Amino acid sequence: MTITLRRLSNALGAEVQGVDLGKTLSNSEFDQIHRAFLDHGILLFRDQEITREQHIAFSRRFGELDTHDSLPRDRHPDYPELLLVTNIPKANGAPSDSKYTGHLWHSDMSFTPVPSLGSLLRGITIPDVGGDTMFTNMAKAYDALSDGMKKMIADLHGIHTGTRKIADLSSDRAAEQAKLNPPIAQPLVRVHPETGRKTLYIGEKVSCFVGMTEEESKPLIDYLVKHATRPQFIYRHQWRTNDIVFWDNRCTMHIALGDYEEGKIRHLERTTVKGTPSGYFLQ
Ligand code: SIN
Repeated sequence: MTITLRRLSNALGAEVQGVDLGKTLSNSEFDQIHRAFLDHGILLFRDQEITREQHIAFSRRFGELDTHDSLPRDRHPDYPELLLVTNIPKANGAPSDSKYTGHLWHSDMSFTPVPSLGSLLRGITIPDVGGDTMFTNMAKAYDALSDGMKKMIADLHGIHTGTRKIADLSSDRAAEQAKLNPPIAQPLVRVHPETGRKTLYIGEKVSCFVGMTEEESKPLIDYLVKHATRPQFIYRHQWRTNDIVFWDNRCTMHIALGDYEEGKIRHLERTTVKGTPSGYFLQ
């Protein structure tokens, strides 16, 4: 296979062309893809009509896969390595548990002690219009801060929660999530273990900073999220069936926009590669 890259935006992302993820990649092909992943933060593979087993096998090349114990309602009943991101209602007609998955700016598994290295999301049924995902480059966002701000935030730790501040907050799901995933502290500035670049580690699931009240923390959280999601740091992905998007959770954040018509089906499946431990419980 001859692998070529096409950049997706000025800020981040590249489409990888000339690869069939249904086939076992040689070490040299894998090395090229791994290098591109580190260089671009997001990789897009189009037209990958692959099986669940092939999705899992390709993902495993990048490390141990999460079995989603922290999100038991959303994992595939037969494949714990696959997280369902779907709005297909349950058999009893109740709304899907993952209807709102990703509707806040976040980095996957930031609310667990071992946040994710990367996620591979496969588009299966996509609305004819919308259902986009936006990604932002958190290394560029960190670099663009002033020296004064960098100094001020250097030793802060954010408290991340798995619960949501959106529509289904009052559901029993939110209560289960809170019980399963107690708040966890993560450094606000992390060093990417493979590129050595400093990155911001913030998002809309951060409630406050360690040693500060929510009221004191909120203006800074809001500022950093607003800063990190400025258009110059963004790539907006318009999904197609059989797309696989592989993002680096250590240097990007993302949000599912929910920008599609009510009643349209949006169904995707995600593997989540485990990263290195960085979080700690507060009690
Ligand atoms: C996610 O946060 O993993 C889901 C993103 C999406 O549905 O676009």
